[in-house]
Amino acid sequence: MKEVTANRLSQRSDYTYKFNRKAGRHGWLRLTPAYSVRIVEELLSQAPRHLRVLDPFCGTATTALSAAYRGHDAVTIDINPFLVWLGRVKTQYYTEQTLNRAYQASEDVILQIHKGAVTPVSPPAIHHIERWWSPRTLEWLCQLQGALDQLVPPETDEGALLRVAFCRALMACSNAAFNHQSMSFRSEGQQLRLMQPDYAELFREEVSFVLAGARENPAGRTHVILHDARRLSTLSEGTFDLVITSPPYVNRMSYVRELRPYMYWLGFLSDGRQAGELDWLAIGGTWGVATSRLASWEAKQDILIHRELETLLERIAKPSNANGRLLAAYIRKYFVDIETHLSELRSVLSPGATVHYIIGNSSFYGELLPVERLYVSLFAKLGFKNISVCPLRKRNSKKELVEFDVSATM
Ligand SMILES: C[S@@+](CC[C@H](N)C(=O)[O-])C[C@H]1O[C@@H](n2cnc3c(N)ncnc32)[C@H](O)[C@@H]1O
Repeated sequence: MKEVTANRLSQRSDYTYKFNRKAGRHGWLRLTPAYSVRIVEELLSQAPRHLRVLDPFCGTATTALSAAYRGHDAVTIDINPFLVWLGRVKTQYYTEQTLNRAYQASEDVILQIHKGAVTPVSPPAIHHIERWWSPRTLEWLCQLQGALDQLVPPETDEGALLRVAFCRALMACSNAAFNHQSMSFRSEGQQLRLMQPDYAELFREEVSFVLAGARENPAGRTHVILHDARRLSTLSEGTFDLVITSPPYVNRMSYVRELRPYMYWLGFLSDGRQAGELDWLAIGGTWGVATSRLASWEAKQDILIHRELETLLERIAKPSNANGRLLAAYIRKYFVDIETHLSELRSVLSPGATVHYIIGNSSFYGELLPVERLYVSLFAKLGFKNISVCPLRKRNSKKELVEFDVSATM
């Protein structure tokens, strides 16, 4: 195994989702743990020929879209139905007529709201919705969604594009602040500036941003599928030459939690119970009911991935760490799930295929979890060859938290 040490790394925001914000379709909706288009582009630029590319953890479809822009065929899967919907809309081919219809429909929507000719929808059941939007903004969003439902069916291409613009608009006029890795709310002083935006203008801007991205059509074919990365042998999509992916990190980040405003408004979630159930299906999910399930979860299979992991889990689970046992179960389940995924992955790889896993290490109660080394052990155990670890960037000012590309071949 080739291993490169993580000396002199910088934080490189161009290697994070921040780089994607102005990159056309890649910038449509933000997902904090999305990786940078730049990482994917750099890896794809080494590809010598037309490839079949797989991303088993689609997220916002960064890999599939980049691969399709370069003319490759891409298949990507995710367990979250909202991300599958978004991935399909992002990788779709749009004609000029569709874009014109979308633009016309957006103007109709604004006109009908202005005339008071719209039946607003009821606000979604988001917990503490008043923290997200002021009463006036909420009223306008309910009208906007009511108008979209009346005038532009969601299953049409123009309907889908306008719903992406709707998602951007609902975030742009929310009190959500993204100063940290996880979302928080703006203070009251900061909210005042946003109390009465020109809503129609705000929606127009988002429509224009989305339609500009939609004009850049990908050349390659893409297929975005609702599927579980632990069941790849049932995928029926043939085999792949290249995998570029970023699996969930071992950092208790909940994608459902981060995506909940979009998911509630677009009808992918109707209550907190459902959100927890979906997070329990996801690898590394810990939100709501997922946490209580984890407390009683026991590994059915023996996962002696690494002696080092067993020793670390014992240290993390010690009684003086308040949630130590729960977190040790969380980490153990994560690696059981990843092992299941990687062993299923073998069944969809062509001989000589290359895989790149972009992952970060983590720290629990001051114990550094060497996630990259644990991936290396799993790849070796499953018979992968040419395993290599390349540090990419520091994740924050703490020097030990690093993002790596762990690669291997079949
Ligand atoms: C780190 S994110 C991927 C981000 C992506 N690279 C991007 O640029 O947006 C990990 C993704 O894995 C998905 N996921 C979690 N468990 C899964 C599973 N069992 N099968 C498929 N996808 C899963 C999550 O829903 C999330 O979208």
